[in-house]
Amino acid sequence: MASSSPSLQLQFPLTRRTAPSSNRSTRPFSLRPIRASVSERPPIPAVSVAAPEPTQLPIRKVPGDYGIPFIGPIKDRLDYFYNQGRDEYFKSRIQKYQSTVFRANMPPGPFIAPNPNVVALLDGKSFPVLFDVTKVEKKDLFTGTFMPSTELTGGYRVLSYLDPSEPKHALLKRLMFFLLKSRREKVIPEFHSSYTDLFQNLEKEIAAKGKASFGDANDQAAFNFLARSLYGSNPADTPLGLDGPKIVQKWVLFQLSPILILGLPKLIEDSVFHTFRLPPSLVKKDYNKLYDFFYQSAGFVLDESDRLGVPRDEACHNLLFATCFNSFGGMKIFFPNMLKWIGRAGIKLHTQLAQEIRSAVRSNGNQVTMAAMENMPLMKSTVYEAFRIEPPVPLQFGRAKHDLVIESHDNSFEIKQGELLFGYQPFATKDPKIFDRSEEFVADRFLGEGERLLKHVLWSNGPETETPSIGNKQCAGKDFVTLVSRLLVVELFLRYDSFDIEVGTSPLGSSVTVTSLKRASF
Ligand code: HEM
Repeated sequence: MASSSPSLQLQFPLTRRTAPSSNRSTRPFSLRPIRASVSERPPIPAVSVAAPEPTQLPIRKVPGDYGIPFIGPIKDRLDYFYNQGRDEYFKSRIQKYQSTVFRANMPPGPFIAPNPNVVALLDGKSFPVLFDVTKVEKKDLFTGTFMPSTELTGGYRVLSYLDPSEPKHALLKRLMFFLLKSRREKVIPEFHSSYTDLFQNLEKEIAAKGKASFGDANDQAAFNFLARSLYGSNPADTPLGLDGPKIVQKWVLFQLSPILILGLPKLIEDSVFHTFRLPPSLVKKDYNKLYDFFYQSAGFVLDESDRLGVPRDEACHNLLFATCFNSFGGMKIFFPNMLKWIGRAGIKLHTQLAQEIRSAVRSNGNQVTMAAMENMPLMKSTVYEAFRIEPPVPLQFGRAKHDLVIESHDNSFEIKQGELLFGYQPFATKDPKIFDRSEEFVADRFLGEGERLLKHVLWSNGPETETPSIGNKQCAGKDFVTLVSRLLVVELFLRYDSFDIEVGTSPLGSSVTVTSLKRASF
């Protein structure tokens, strides 16, 4: 499906900016730029985990039903959000039908989604059919059974909603690869700069108040980092100022409110936000402010879009979406989640990570580079494990392009052309038939022999062992995301021996409050 397409492999010659002098006295070592380059690919061959062709497993009719029209979907929505909650909604039905593949409704249902009926795939064997674009169509399915108004994206269906069979998909994905490739040398230094600010702010706030919200600080740091690394533009020096993160959150809310728990009283939340769309006009002025920032900052990418034959405004709406929804949204969910899992793992893991990371950086002339990070196997495994245990984008959808047979571990199921397949990724990546101690955070799970399991890590909308291309729907920023996630862990443990957190919930991911940061002592 994607074999002929060029793909992005970040083999960055990357350097890191020298640490600001204010930091140097407290850091265990100083940093001097050197250049190094290393492959990001894991040292094991890519393995395709697309669903296999039918074998001898007994054919079973897909169990479950959709209930009475209108009533069934609303009942299922209330179960999903409130009466059971998402995990229990799926678990209880697996029990009831004795099957990880069954029929159910997915929110939002009436009046927003024209048809909420799906076939749910809730194990690691059936799930990967959702990546096989020869079998499923991905058109307008990015947010599931409903699509937000294109008024929220300049009137365009942006890349995330396009199927690879649509000609614009390849052009726009190429543009994303161009952006990422052009700016690759900026990632490590700009990450260091933005997240040094974050840590300094956290320290100040903890000193003053005894605790600090990681989420709030991360929103500002992530937005600054993305703007500076991808576009060379510092938001504070433009008319956008520091408003970026707040505007993005409001704009994302207008797109995702039908499927989020916002923490409002149940009745209001469900009868308003899950039943009707918020009018896009209410966020237009803010969106335009964001758009102007991108139009001013992204000239070099818009020049490339001219060359590709994509109108500049369409390209700019796509850059805004990829940066603010895909990238900022992803970092907003994943970074607190990763901190939560590493925080909960405790002092033993923290010490091991600090030792490994500092030793690899010291051996690399005190530089954080791709090469240095290749010598941090525990850090790499820890990041993969965070992606496995709590994939940041948990819901995936695909429409059967033709009649096909899907296999779970126990049965095969006949699916009709046009049926909507849905996968809840955490149930695939915590499948006990694939992973031992699947519900536990095992930081060293992917070390050594464990690397063979990387093909079952699926956060990027594809196996970790495969590569995004213009022919597939895998996250265009896969390597970038892996890199910045590793950088967060590296920066954290270069600076601190350990840390403590408190964890709550939020509409997107976890709410993490840092209660202590222990400065590096070795
Ligand atoms: C933690 C951060 C990120 C996460 C968790 C993430 C996750 C994902 C996922 C799950 C998809 C597939 C959605 C679907 O079709 O079901 C996706 C697609 C996409 N992502 Fe990312 N992403 C992240 C960051 C980025 C970055 C940094 C970029 C780069 C600009 C990016 C660009 C895209 C694009 C363009 C697509 C659509 C690909 C296509 O249509 O072929 N993402 N991402």
